[in-house]
Amino acid sequence: KPIPPHVIVLFGATGDLARRKLIPGLAHLLLSDLAPDIQVVGTSLEDYTTEQFREFAHKAIEEFSHRDVEKATWAEFGDKVSYVPTGAGPDALAKAVGEAEQRLGGRAERLHYLSVPPAAARQVIKTLKDADLVERAGVVMEKPFGTDLASAISLNNEVHQTFDESQIYRIDHFLGKEAALNILAFRFANGLFEPIWNRNFIDHIQIDIPETLGLDRRANFYEVTGAYKDMVVTHLFQVLAFVAMEPPTALEPRAISEEKNKVFRSMLPIDPNEVVRGQYTGYRNEDGVARDSDTETFIALKCGIDNWRWAGTPFYLRTGKRMAEGQRIISIAFKEAPKSMFPLGSGVGQHGPDHLTFDLADESKVSLSFYGKRPGPGMKLDKLSMQFSTQETDSAAAVLEAYERLILDAMRHDHTLFTTAEGIESLWERSAPLLLNPPPVRNYPPGSWGPNAIHQLVAPHAWRLPF
Ligand code: BG6
Repeated sequence: KPIPPHVIVLFGATGDLARRKLIPGLAHLLLSDLAPDIQVVGTSLEDYTTEQFREFAHKAIEEFSHRDVEKATWAEFGDKVSYVPTGAGPDALAKAVGEAEQRLGGRAERLHYLSVPPAAARQVIKTLKDADLVERAGVVMEKPFGTDLASAISLNNEVHQTFDESQIYRIDHFLGKEAALNILAFRFANGLFEPIWNRNFIDHIQIDIPETLGLDRRANFYEVTGAYKDMVVTHLFQVLAFVAMEPPTALEPRAISEEKNKVFRSMLPIDPNEVVRGQYTGYRNEDGVARDSDTETFIALKCGIDNWRWAGTPFYLRTGKRMAEGQRIISIAFKEAPKSMFPLGSGVGQHGPDHLTFDLADESKVSLSFYGKRPGPGMKLDKLSMQFSTQETDSAAAVLEAYERLILDAMRHDHTLFTTAEGIESLWERSAPLLLNPPPVRNYPPGSWGPNAIHQLVAPHAWRLPF
C-alpha cells in the first residue's frame, strides 16, 4: 500500500538520535521511494534557521548514513526539510506544518516524532495540542517511557487526554531490527526448534549487548537514565519477550502484544542481589557528569520467567558503555547430552554446551554450534558451527534500518512492532525492587567486559562473550 503524504514533525531534531539515525533514515525512505511524499519539520531548543538546520542535516547524513547520498540527491531531500525553534511557540510550529502541507499539495497526515527525554514528553504533547496538530496525526514516543511505574502511568494518562491510543506509537527500535524479526520467523515458521524451545532442553539464555561507544554528547540524558533504563527495561526485555513468548494466534498487533505481555507478567521481580551495576573508571570526569555520580554505565543481571515453559531457566542480561567489544547477541545454550560415550579427552563437553546464537547486527546472523568429529584417526571432537548471514545473500541491499522500518510502519498505521502501555507498566513493576534498592556501582576499566562480579553472577555458567 503506498504511503500517503506525510509531514514528519521531528522534536529533538538537533539531538543525537536525530543526527545518527532519524535524519539519515528519513533521507533513505524518501530517496529510495519507500516514502516519496514526505516533508520534515525539525524543531528543538536550538535557535537555528532552516538553512542552518539543513546544514546540520546534511552533515548528519554524510557522517552517519550507510548509504550513498550523493550531492544531487541530497538537494532533493534538503528541499523537503524546514526548521522552527521550539521557543518560537505553538503558532509558529502550526504555521511551519501548514506550509509543509501546502508543499505536499494540501491536506497531509502528520507524524510527530518525540525524540526527547521522558521529562520533556509532556511539554511536547501540550505544544501539539496548543498548535492544533492532533488531527490526522500519529505520535511516536521514544523510550524510556517514564522512569518508573508511577511516572509511566501518569505520562500515559496525560498523553491519552490529547491522543487516542490508536494514534500512539511507543517505539523500541530493537523490535524493528531485521534480526529481531528473524527470531519470530525462526521460531514460528519452522518445526525444527520450537519443540525443544523450553526448560527441558534449554539450559540458560544470554542477551548480551556490550557497546564500545561512550557517552558521546548525551551526558544530560544518560546521567538521569543509566544503563538499566536506557537499555534493559526497554530493548533487552523487549527482545527477551520475542525469545520467550508463546506462539501468537496471528502475526498481528493484538495477538503479539498479548503474548509479550504475558511474558512480562510472568517475569520474576528483579532481585537487586542478582544485579551487578558498574561504572567505567573516568565516567565521573566526563563533561556534564556529576563528580559523585551514581549512574550505572553497565549492568548485568539474572532474571527468570516463572511460567510452564521457562520456570527455573536463568536468563542472563548484560549491557554497558565503553566495553571491550560492540556486540548484540542472544545466545541459547542447550542442555548437554545426558551421558557421554566418547572417550575421556575426546573433547566432548570441554567447549561448553551447544548454542544457537542470534546476532542482532544490521545484517542478521544466526549460528548453531555443536560437537562434531575431527577428521583423522581416533575419535576427537571439535566444536563446529553452521551459520547464516544476510550479508552473504542477494537481499543484503534490502535491509532496512530499524528506525526506517518503524517510521514506515507508523505511517502505515501498523502497531505490530510497537510496545504497549500495559507491557511497559508490567516491566516497571518488575523493576521496582531494583529501582528502590540499587546495589552500589562497581568500577570497571574502559575496554573491559565489566566488573569482576559478573562471573559470580552466572556461575556455574560462563559468559558466552568474548567468542
Ligand atoms: C539506544 C540507547 O536506544 O540504543 C543508546 O539510548 C544505545 O544508549 C543504542 O547506544 C544502541 O542501539 P543500536 O541500534 O546501535 O544497537
